[in-house]
Amino acid sequence: MTVLAPPLRLVDVSKSFGGVQVLKPLRLDMVQGEMLALLGPSGCGKTTTLRLIAGFEVPDTGSVVINGRDMTAMPPNKRGLGMVFQNYSLFPHMTVGENVAFGLRMRGASAAEKTKRVRAMLQMVRLESFEDRRISQLSGGQQQRIALARALATEPSILLLDEPLGALDKNLRERMQFELRDIQHRLGITCILVTHDQEEALTMSDRVAVMAHGEVKQVGHPTDVYERPRSRFVSEFLGTANIFTGTVKAQEGAAWRVAIDPRGCAEPLIAAETLQLGQRVTLAVRPEKLVLGPPKADAITARVRDIVFRGAYFAYELTLPNQEQPLFVYTQKREAVPDDGIVGLTWAPDSAVILEEPA
Ligand SMILES: Nc1ncnc2c1ncn2[C@@H]1O[C@H](COP(=O)(O)OP(=O)(O)O)[C@@H](O)[C@H]1O
Ligand SMILES: [Mg+2]
Repeated sequence: MTVLAPPLRLVDVSKSFGGVQVLKPLRLDMVQGEMLALLGPSGCGKTTTLRLIAGFEVPDTGSVVINGRDMTAMPPNKRGLGMVFQNYSLFPHMTVGENVAFGLRMRGASAAEKTKRVRAMLQMVRLESFEDRRISQLSGGQQQRIALARALATEPSILLLDEPLGALDKNLRERMQFELRDIQHRLGITCILVTHDQEEALTMSDRVAVMAHGEVKQVGHPTDVYERPRSRFVSEFLGTANIFTGTVKAQEGAAWRVAIDPRGCAEPLIAAETLQLGQRVTLAVRPEKLVLGPPKADAITARVRDIVFRGAYFAYELTLPNQEQPLFVYTQKREAVPDDGIVGLTWAPDSAVILEEPA
């Protein structure tokens, strides 16, 4: 039995520009056929990572291994990769067909092969009749599809996408997310999607690598990084998070009673592995996991400040006594709130996550 090498392996790849390290040594193994999202705020090093993989940048340390071969010193056109850039980078003086055929021409493909392949690619992105058009005659969404067709024409082993939908308006972007995902599934191609859009990363990928300051903070299945964030940064970057601090008071079976700050607030149960009595902890609870009810012992007393209808759910903004930071609760139906606005907040023990890195 042969064990296939991972399609991509980054071994301690790092990069500095002008003495500033923009990518700390990064280790990453990809799985054949997966869509991996590189998610992080602007400037965190996503594009640099992609350019190192593609060969447009040379790493200061480490190596880029593609399908078991060390490609660190290999020029971009010898790596067998396809790339879609943020601004598409289509050739404006060429037709759609010539753009799609570009990589094939560079490889010296025959005219018959080029024709066949261009047709197949245009059919895949549903722009069959556009072969002779100029790039300037295409809409943003169509240009995006042509850039994708061009990147896939040479049958790359990995597809690299740098904010491919960033220039499209919301509706079109959501449609293209499904289309892109569908094409990726049909081809079974290994794919890296760079994005700063949390929703896009969560809906499109098999795994998400959350980056900050040139570092991957956490890698995992979308539900895993969303529901079990390890740091405050990851919990807040992936959506709204309610952050609490408290002190561990007692163990009860597989859960722990934690006295939430400020003193006397409440002592809810938190499911967690080993904690120490007296330990200070920071925890995160998603707005949809907080439960609104009447004030009672064991519930956190809070005051409702605002209720906003957001279409798919209701968002409650609440405050704790003497706390600046608001809390957010999302509910499917509108809950009854007493005239004085005072409610009790509870959660299931496994809905709160103890953060390993409070920062
Ligand atoms: N060629 C370059 N020369 C100098 N600085 C660069 C260069 N490319 C990127 N940087 C810097 O590296 C950091 C990471 O950039 P980048 O990888 O483009 O971030 P992202 O794609 O996550 O927004 C930024 O601070 C950026 O200014
Ligand atoms: Mg970028």
